[in-house]
Amino acid sequence: MLTIDQIEDFDRDGFVLIEGMFSIDEVAILRRAANLAARVREHTVVAHDADGNESPLAIWRDIGEDVFGMVSASPRVVNSMRAMLREDVYHWHSKVMLKYPEGGGAWEWHQDYGYWYRDGCPYPRLASAMIVIDEAMKVNGCLKVMVGSHLLGRLDHANVGNQHGVEPERAKALESRLPIQFVEAKPGSALFFHCNLIHASEPNLSEFSRLAYICCYNAFSNIPIIGQGHGPPIPIQLTSDDAILQFA
Ligand code: SIN
Ligand code: MN
Repeated sequence: MLTIDQIEDFDRDGFVLIEGMFSIDEVAILRRAANLAARVREHTVVAHDADGNESPLAIWRDIGEDVFGMVSASPRVVNSMRAMLREDVYHWHSKVMLKYPEGGGAWEWHQDYGYWYRDGCPYPRLASAMIVIDEAMKVNGCLKVMVGSHLLGRLDHANVGNQHGVEPERAKALESRLPIQFVEAKPGSALFFHCNLIHASEPNLSEFSRLAYICCYNAFSNIPIIGQGHGPPIPIQLTSDDAILQFA
């Protein structure tokens, strides 16, 4: 469970990094699934960054019975989300970010709410938990964030590659105004971030893979008012804390 200080960090900065939320053994199971599971192969789509590099990800809306589902419904993640959003949440989607060595593409500066507003959510009351699978370093394109940018509110987004990005001129100006933090983190760390936090990542030009699993949640007060949204707003059945290890 998060401490009051960690929740205050999230409120002030728009993100908080919790080291060691998952053990090395749990991450090893998750890594094997990220590399081998049919679910990942069958759900992979490819986004393109502004330079045309491929940024593949595997994305789904259901909480399955596999190791990914055990993480998305884990009390560690879901109860932290409830604490940060101050209410109960439901699963929005989960995705494996497949940033492979030597060429994994960039993600342009964006707010997730830039996408999810278009999905009909009335409020910016969603957040994500990025579970670090491979050590995230500057050299393999770790996430970078504009500290405190969630307080700007939702910004207009334009098409950049086939991604939605903060309008390039505004993103550039904000880069010189707000502190930029590269979120380097060890496997098993969890980065919780607000849907209006401006974030991006650079291409992976290194020999090191940078896989991460991101679970996203929406508050029950924020069910889409237009369209179908992502996952249906059903209460999450929490898994037990040792559920992941059962997939060893
Ligand atoms: C990344 O994995 O580098 C980007 C993740 C995101 O945009 O949520
Ligand atoms: Mn994002």
